[in-house]
Order: sequence, then structure tokens, then C-alpha cells
Amino acid sequence: YVPDGAKQRGLNGVNIVLLGPPGAGKGTQGVVLSKSYQIPHISTGDILREAVKSGTPLGKKAKMFMDSGELVPDEVVVGIVVDSLGRDDTKKGYILDGFPRTLKQAEELDAALKRIVSGIDMALYFEIPEDIAIERLTGRRVCKKCGANFHVKNIPPKKEGICDKCGAELFQRPDDKLETVKNRLKVYELQTRPLIEYYTKKGILKKVSGALDVKDLFKELCQIFSDTKLA
Ligand code: AP5
Repeated sequence: YVPDGAKQRGLNGVNIVLLGPPGAGKGTQGVVLSKSYQIPHISTGDILREAVKSGTPLGKKAKMFMDSGELVPDEVVVGIVVDSLGRDDTKKGYILDGFPRTLKQAEELDAALKRIVSGIDMALYFEIPEDIAIERLTGRRVCKKCGANFHVKNIPPKKEGICDKCGAELFQRPDDKLETVKNRLKVYELQTRPLIEYYTKKGILKKVSGALDVKDLFKELCQIFSDTKLA
């Protein structure tokens, strides 16, 4: 579902930040929005996980922080994002997922964007009750090979521990263990929540409910783009 005309108009040149606690559905909507509106989805979590998997120097630096649910240092993450925003495909707009996550990252992002003359147009804040986020994250299982997502209760695979799509083994992200999820939520409260005020003051924050189901939330986001004439 994309509202009439929105697909043709797209989100041309629109820069969006997805904000909200772990498990609020930012990554899921980021992928759907990116496909529907054809602008890149830049997820710092995905970039870091890929670096850990390939054992690059970046991955080695990031792993310890990620596994314990702490944030990777600002200077490491800001560099990754600024590099990504220099790519040609970001000229038609982009969706930043999981970044910025601290006030320092937000300020450095604004400074970098000033240099390339295009700012953030909208920050979408996904609000979700903590118990739902915990249930989603601790039950999540991911395919080792194709990355498909399952959930032990909500989206169980046909055969336990095995991916329906490619037959490979499913695993639990190290940071999806209950204790680490609790720490991620604590880190979010302390370091990321202040960004809600930061973007509210700029007049570009829109709040949505991350607890809605995937389709309803996507519809709501499309409606917001259309109401604000972004798409
Ligand atoms: P990152 O990968 O960004 O993780 P996160 O934001 O903590 O959490 P998720 O990605 O799990 O949550 P999400 O809101 O994207 O939800 P999702 O759609 O995946 O970061 C991981 C780590 O990397 C950080 O802890 C940190 O160490 C490091 N890092 C990343 N960025 C950084 C930065 N800028 N600075 C410093 N460090 C950084 O969905 C979650 C689950 O819920 C899935 O199973 C999904 O299928 C399910 N789900 C989604 N939507 C719905 C729905 N509507 N209904 C039912 N289920 C749903």
C-alpha cells in the first residue's frame, strides 16, 4: 500500500531519521519504506553487524560494545555515516535508521549536512511500551545465511531453528539476550531519548506508535508523508 501518486512522486530529496527504542520496528519500516519510495535505507546497526561478521578492523572495534548493548563510540559511527552520505545514491534522499543515537551524533550530523547543503527533513519517533519491545527482541531469531527474521511466538519457523526460506540455521543475536536487551533500553533512555527534544525544537519530529502491526504502521507513515507534502 502506497497512497495514490506517492510512488510516482517518491520521496525525492527527502532525508529522514528513524528514532525510537530497540525493538520499536525502525529497521522493519526502514526496509519497507526504502523499497516503496526507492531511497536508500542506511542502518548503522546493519553496517556494524556486517563489519563484525567480516572481521574488519571496524567490526573488531565494535563487537565488544554491541554484544554488551552499549553504544559504539561516536567518532567511529559518525565516520561511517558521513562516508555513506557521500554516496551518489543518497542525493535522492535517504532513511537513517539507528543514527543519530546521541546528541553529539545529531550535532555532528547537522554540521556535516550543512557542508553538503541538505538537512534532515523529518525525524520519525517510534514509541513503544517497554514490555512489547522486550518480547519482540528476546523472541527474535535470525537466519545465519539469508538474514530472514523470525520470532519464536509471533512468526515461528515451520521447523524449529531452521529458516523457512533457505534452510539454514537460525540464531539469536547476542544483544537480544534478556539482560542485554534491558541494558540497550537503559542506554536508549540515557543517551538517545534526549534526541526527541532536539528534533522537537527543530519542529521536525513526528510521533507514531511502533506497537501497530507492520502494515498499519506503514500506512500511517505514508499518510504523514502525504499530509506534510513530503511525498
Ligand atoms: P541496531 O541494529 O540499530 O539495533 P536497535 O535499534 O537497538 O534495535 P533493533 O534494530 O533490534 O530495533 P528496531 O527498532 O530496528 O526494530 P526491528 O525492526 O529490528 O543497533 C545494534 C547495536 O549497534 C547497538 O546496540 C549499538 O551497539 C550499535 N549501534 C548502532 N547504531 C549506533 C549508533 N548510531 N551509535 C552507536 N552505536 C550504534 O524489529 C525488532 C523485532 O520486532 C523484529 O523481530 C521484527 O520482526 C519485529 N517487529 C518489527 N515491527 C513489528 C511490528 N509492527 N509488529 C510486530 N513485530 C514487529
